[in-house]
Amino acid sequence: MTRADAPAKMILFGEHAVVYGRPAIAVPIPELRASAVVEEHHLGAAGQIELISPLTEIRIWLHEAPPGNPLAAITSNTLAKIECTSPSPLKITIDSTIPVAAGLGSGAAVSVAVARALGRHFGVELDPQTLSALAYEVEVIHHGSPSGVDNTVIAFESPVFFIRGQTLELFTLRQPITVILAHSGQATPTAIAVEEVRKLRERDPVLANACFDEIGEITLAAYQALMKGGLEQLGELMNRNHDLLKVLGVSSPQLDQLVETALVAGANGAKLSGAGLGGYIIALVNADDAEAVFHALAESGASQLHKVSVHA
Ligand code: MEV
Repeated sequence: MTRADAPAKMILFGEHAVVYGRPAIAVPIPELRASAVVEEHHLGAAGQIELISPLTEIRIWLHEAPPGNPLAAITSNTLAKIECTSPSPLKITIDSTIPVAAGLGSGAAVSVAVARALGRHFGVELDPQTLSALAYEVEVIHHGSPSGVDNTVIAFESPVFFIRGQTLELFTLRQPITVILAHSGQATPTAIAVEEVRKLRERDPVLANACFDEIGEITLAAYQALMKGGLEQLGELMNRNHDLLKVLGVSSPQLDQLVETALVAGANGAKLSGAGLGGYIIALVNADDAEAVFHALAESGASQLHKVSVHA
């Protein structure tokens, strides 16, 4: 039996603009993880693999999976990568503590966990670059034109400064930061939010590009602050980033209300994180204010809450 896992992620700055070539900053969330267990199966014929996800009630054999099934895709692509045809029947069981369709990268984390576990089962320790590339292929099934930031931060399990097709910098924060994550209770697939932004860009390219440019500048300023210290301005940059995501049409009344609640309760800044139209907000807090912000968000109806420290 072989087990492997992978973390969730949160985008601190730059979502959506990153699809159009502007930078983004994302960090792993080690506390929330997807895992995959690969083991010999007592059913099935040689070479057959059963894919099981109790949480999503999925149970399919790889050779019977419909085209585009993400679990089947990551399994077949990984087996091709490691040039392996399984001699005996296998089963792969997925588990995850990452909320689905909530902007925390659950799909990419499952892909990385499966690829890592399968490789390991056959004696191949796949490197982060390869895991990221394998997960990216599945992200394409999920939402057509992903920037690649999700699979990258999850496979490398490090803070990343990322520009699509150009820059991947793994970096260390100068000082740790504390973030409260609060779920709006709405689950929206990334593809839908990405499509909304694509339509806005088609209707009003001047507006959309101006938003992307400003988000890019905010992200650069935030990167400097995270690398060199000077966290005071980070909250303000988050607030501005959220306002621009609102203009791009990917916020929601629930997300705006959670942002407002966090700020009133003393957060330094807050914004939606990930694709939006639901999912999570993130609120940057000082250690002293963390509890008050957490409780205010719980009282205002956040369906799930996590307090996460991003380490220096
Ligand atoms: C989703 O986590 C982030 C988006 O920017 C999409 C992408 O980067 O592919 C919304």
